[in-house]
Amino acid sequence: MKNKKHFVVAIDGPASSGKSTIAKNAAKLLNCIYIDSGAMYRAVGLYVHQNEIDIQNEEQVKKSLPEISIKIQNQGDGTDNKIILNSKDVSKAIRQPKISQNASIVAKYGAVRQKLVQLQRKIANNKSVIMDGRDIGTVVFPHADFKFFIIASAQERAKRRWKELREKGEEKPLQEVLDELKWRDKTDSSRKIAPLKRPKDAIEIDTTALSIEEQTNLVCNYITKKTAVH
Ligand code: CDP
Repeated sequence: MKNKKHFVVAIDGPASSGKSTIAKNAAKLLNCIYIDSGAMYRAVGLYVHQNEIDIQNEEQVKKSLPEISIKIQNQGDGTDNKIILNSKDVSKAIRQPKISQNASIVAKYGAVRQKLVQLQRKIANNKSVIMDGRDIGTVVFPHADFKFFIIASAQERAKRRWKELREKGEEKPLQEVLDELKWRDKTDSSRKIAPLKRPKDAIEIDTTALSIEEQTNLVCNYITKKTAVH
């Protein structure tokens, strides 16, 4: 790792565990780019929704893939991802709860995963990146320089997502948010291809009782201690 030009950090974990916050903050501190792989599954989920494709029909979803072009534009300091679906900025639209569920359904399909994994590897080529998702350390970059697995209790994760939604003006009962998270955890960890699981060589961090600053510091300190990046 020392003197290596580029490095890859894989951050995996269940929904709302703190992955993307840690990844964005760490990318800022370590001067590299952040890539939100989940946004790509969300973009496919949104396309299927907008075009009234039967999401439960794997063949139909597979057939629509050549019509889908996804681009991630790194904004500003490289830590803000703008998601472009067929030339349209869908960064906001993909965050709707309905699209979270859709993302989880299309993420079960092999052809969808194949297309998006290819895109993820291409974007990260020849760059130092921090990518978050469900299978980054297991499938996308099994040889990543650093792997983290971020967890938190389901209650705490639901509270975080509930707050996030409320800030966007989308009030929902906490129980509903919790049920949706649990459904997604189950769907993501029980699927046949690239299920959500801790890579054997990942460092696990439980963020339930940690502040955002503490979470970010844990990850960044670990990386800077082991590299010549800083
Ligand atoms: O932000 P949040 O943790 O709620 O989810 P996300 O990272 O935006 O991912 C949305 C969905 O995409 C997940 O529930 C997974 O089903 C899927 N996903 C995946 O299968 N593999 C990835 N590398 C990233 C996301």
